[in-house]
Amino acid sequence: MTAERTQVAIIGAGPAGLTLAHILHHHGIESVVIERRDRAYVERRLRAGVLEQGTVDLFRALGVGARMDREGLVHHGINLQFEGERHRIALSELTGGRVITIYGQHEVVKDLVAARLAHDGPILFSAADVSLHDIASDRPRIRFRHDGQPRELHCDVIAGCDGTHGVSHDAIPPGERQVFERTYPFSWLGILAAVPPSLGEVIYAYHERGFALHSMRGPNVTRLYVQCAPDDALDSWPDERVWFELAARLSTRDGWSVHEGPVLEKSITTLRSLVTEPMQYGQLFLVGDAAHVVPPTGAKGMNLAVADARVLGEALARWYRDGDRRGLVEYSATCLRRVWRAEHFSWSMTSMLHRFPDTDGFQEKLQLSHLRYLCNSTAAATSLAENYVGLEHV
Ligand code: FAD
Ligand code: DHB
Repeated sequence: MTAERTQVAIIGAGPAGLTLAHILHHHGIESVVIERRDRAYVERRLRAGVLEQGTVDLFRALGVGARMDREGLVHHGINLQFEGERHRIALSELTGGRVITIYGQHEVVKDLVAARLAHDGPILFSAADVSLHDIASDRPRIRFRHDGQPRELHCDVIAGCDGTHGVSHDAIPPGERQVFERTYPFSWLGILAAVPPSLGEVIYAYHERGFALHSMRGPNVTRLYVQCAPDDALDSWPDERVWFELAARLSTRDGWSVHEGPVLEKSITTLRSLVTEPMQYGQLFLVGDAAHVVPPTGAKGMNLAVADARVLGEALARWYRDGDRRGLVEYSATCLRRVWRAEHFSWSMTSMLHRFPDTDGFQEKLQLSHLRYLCNSTAAATSLAENYVGLEHV
């Protein structure tokens, strides 16, 4: 068994783990990133696409924003659509000039991996059997297998950045954590299509057939989602059915509809809200999806992961620099304020925009009333806009 030492052991090379590794590097703190998948897999995994202003600002400050600045699409508004009409929410006007940037999560991951490897920061891809030990002591360890060899990494702190299906959250004894959870009676079927976006901005559509979302990844690539049943399998969604539903749900009364094109990728995502509290136990800190999940409506998940990484990175920097543990002690409470704001926002967007099974019409009336209010009241639209672009203070 090879035993090594680092300051911070990071489990998971998603947005949370990689961002944290960069913040630590910026402060001269050593870390090792341990990732279950191989590099090609993490760089191809299609997921989020909307970066909040604060996320973009952080990537620039870390020196990893050059390609994002060249290729990312800056959007000043989003659209809500219902009863065949489109209504624009002018994000920038309502938030003092803040914007969102459309840039795929896998592009973020590619940039972060390339920058990490460029300064010789270790990422151990394809690590197997990762387990956490002695996390309640000040000498925590991680065991895993890499290149067929058993390895042990000793560290001061473990950052559990391994997402929903990782091992970190379960390392906290059940009696020491509480889990708050909601599931939803629907999923999203998402496609990536080789066709120019049908509109220059994101559209959230409420429709009696179910929710639909129009987004994009570049001038020639559209990203689209439709609400589907929670137990639907991909083979019940041939391309023709996907395009039929998209056209039905996204068309407007004035004859506008979506452009069709070759489908490059298709996947189903379940919708869930989940928060683990606290986000810390001993020397283990949970970061991003390892601690919390939001339904994708409202595009908060990756931004929250990056926000957690920032709080932990700054707290660790203060501890190593000044011996001041306050940031670490307050880590969980600080992050949870933002997490619960995003949980509420994502739940609210999800509840407003989807068709729920077995309703008697009451919920639909409320949904339409909420949508109309957002489109007719500057106060209501401002509230949506400031949550959407990301609140600076929560
Ligand atoms: P992950 O990205 O899940 O990274 C965890 C990493 O840990 C992975 O690389 C995984 O392979 C690795 N890992 C897991 N287990 C182990 C183990 N045992 N050992 C070692 N490594 C391990 N968010 C937004 O902000 N905006 C959006 O527009 C948006 N849209 C979305 C659309 C869809 C369809 C989906 C599915 C999600 C969307 N999200 C969005 C959410 C966003 O993708 C996640 O919140 C984000 O990936 C969280 O980052 P993370 O680093 O915490 O976790
Ligand atoms: C995208 C995903 C979302 O969850 C969302 O709310 C908006 C856009 C996207 O993938 O582009």
